[in-house]
Amino acid sequence: MGSTGSSPAHDSHISIDGRSTEIDTRLIIANQHASGAYPASPSFSQYPHSWLRDGSFIAYSMDRCGEHASAAAFHRWAAATVLSNSAATRDLMERAARGQPILEHEFLPARFTVNGEWQQDGWPNFQLDGYGHWLWSLGEHLRSSEAANASQEVGEAARLVGEYLTTFWQEPCYDAWEEYRSQLHTSTLASIYGGLASIGETLLPDLRVVSERVREVILDECVANGRFVKHIGNETVDASLLWVSTPFAVVPEDHSLMTATVKEIERTLSVSGGLRRYAADTFYGGGEWLLLTAWLGWHYSRLGNRERARECLAWVESHRDPEGSLPEQVSGEASNQRFLNYWTKRWGRSAKPLLWSHAMALVLLLELQADGG
Ligand code: BGC
Repeated sequence: MGSTGSSPAHDSHISIDGRSTEIDTRLIIANQHASGAYPASPSFSQYPHSWLRDGSFIAYSMDRCGEHASAAAFHRWAAATVLSNSAATRDLMERAARGQPILEHEFLPARFTVNGEWQQDGWPNFQLDGYGHWLWSLGEHLRSSEAANASQEVGEAARLVGEYLTTFWQEPCYDAWEEYRSQLHTSTLASIYGGLASIGETLLPDLRVVSERVREVILDECVANGRFVKHIGNETVDASLLWVSTPFAVVPEDHSLMTATVKEIERTLSVSGGLRRYAADTFYGGGEWLLLTAWLGWHYSRLGNRERARECLAWVESHRDPEGSLPEQVSGEASNQRFLNYWTKRWGRSAKPLLWSHAMALVLLLELQADGG
């Protein structure tokens, strides 16, 4: 997709490590499909599709950069895609109400082709977090863009997704990393909370009651040793726990549970300045993820700790290649060579550019800029 017609903020710079870093939305805009979908990584064999998770945060970054038309195109695509599956969604909810079993591959997928098709290709698709991310991102879009009213189609799709999450939020599913099928993941629940709360404020007030029930479970069952846990029954941390407060606000950034969680994330997952997803990660050897490191910076920025936020941004920017592309992850001293070789042989080098990495770098850059650079 080419220019969306709104005014980008290309002229804004801040200086990181003596280098001028600018807000540049062109890579994301240039790769947005005419349908409105954002492919996860246009040049990586496994990621030509659009994940609701990645797309929702990419759209959020576009809204923050003033590229509301790009975000609006994504939300129209997501709404049309959701509505094209409304009969299947209603069938799932009716079967759940009757207590009938549902097979894993029947749940709505985590990703669609850029044309909005649901591919039955064996991908571990049952992931609820992306549906929460979409509602949250849509709520942010409605709040931040000039066209503050949702179209009828977008409103109907949001209602359907809200009902779907209301029905299934307690169902164990794959996490945000598409792993650990049988668990209830804290960051997935936080994503559902964030989505229902956000859309509850802007469009569908009745969903706020459900969001409060989700929040109670997070606070009652997803805590051990004074911090949040990766999933119920697993006391380790995962970098996606940052989402609990940034941005989903289950608790504020300075809450004691969050402070202890972030401390443990940095103690166990920070390597050379970048964050790994979780300690036992083996995907591409379990490298350091750019989007998560930018997330940590976002979190620190919201806490008012500009120094740590700038360090995170400097680390992310140090991995930008000469063409301006950011990868999904970089391998480093903590990477497992066997698994790095395994995935590289199977799928080629890991994804670059990853649009979600670009989105989170933009969010952090804007945070720092809003804060005076
Ligand atoms: C990650 C997902 C992501 C997908 C596309 C996977 O490797 O685990 O979180 O949505 O890639 O970027």
